[in-house]
Amino acid sequence: MKRILVRLQYLWYWIKASNAHGLHSPYVFDFYNRVLHPKNKKDACYPIENLRKSLLQNHQIVQVTDWGASSKETKTSDKRISTLAKFAAKPEKYARLLSRIADFCEAKVVLELGTSLGISSMYLASDKNRLVYTVEGCPNIAALSQAHFLKLGYKNIRGYTGLFDQVLPEILSETRADLIFIDGDHRKEATLHYFDMCLAKVSSKTVIIFDDINWSAGMKAAWKEIQKHPKVTVSIDLFYIGIVFLNEELSKQRFVLRF
Ligand SMILES: C[S@@+](CC[C@H](N)C(=O)[O-])C[C@H]1O[C@@H](n2cnc3c(N)ncnc32)[C@H](O)[C@@H]1O
Repeated sequence: MKRILVRLQYLWYWIKASNAHGLHSPYVFDFYNRVLHPKNKKDACYPIENLRKSLLQNHQIVQVTDWGASSKETKTSDKRISTLAKFAAKPEKYARLLSRIADFCEAKVVLELGTSLGISSMYLASDKNRLVYTVEGCPNIAALSQAHFLKLGYKNIRGYTGLFDQVLPEILSETRADLIFIDGDHRKEATLHYFDMCLAKVSSKTVIIFDDINWSAGMKAAWKEIQKHPKVTVSIDLFYIGIVFLNEELSKQRFVLRF
């Protein structure tokens, strides 16, 4: 039932979403053409996609610490690596988009909340001059992602194991991220809380990406609040992800764009 509802919502998004023609903002027009629909798409990252293929076929079981609806209570469950690769990792189309967004905002430092197997972290780290900080709460999953970074030679990823709440202050005390990807703990209050924590250490050039903005009523409400936030100027809804710009030189405007 939920799947049908999501498909209908996606159809509605597709109908109301704009393409390049209706875009009067030169900045967003440029973003649309260079990032969402570039003529020369960046090639797929074959080592990462080969790793994804092997993970999708890996039915080994890992004990997963699930932080659930409250990070004070934990429960563990057994999950197959193939299940994590199928459901937690961003699909290739979106993973490549993350990499293009990082290029577009010339990100030198990226912060990712939610590493899982490390697929999106590695796409974000595709420019070796970029440093990616990524946080994962489940120690067993974090260990797997570390092994993947090592295997594919990503020396520019710093993986942290711990709850977002606990690890974020430490990371923010040592760096300012140009790009932030919030991809874990998809609850309204938690999302707004991490957004607030991150805002304490941003610049006007920082771009923030939220995953699953239409996943639940709570996430839809969180996205609405984020768009209204006084620090947010441009917001872009791509249905599965939402992107916000804090650039004060842009006028406050909301876009729903085809991707
Ligand atoms: C959707 S997955 C991340 C997928 C990854 N970004 C990718 O696309 O390859 C979200 C991850 O966030 C972790 N997580 C969720 N809530 C957390 C919290 N409060 N603190 C730390 N990690 C958390 C989960 O264990 C899970 O592995």
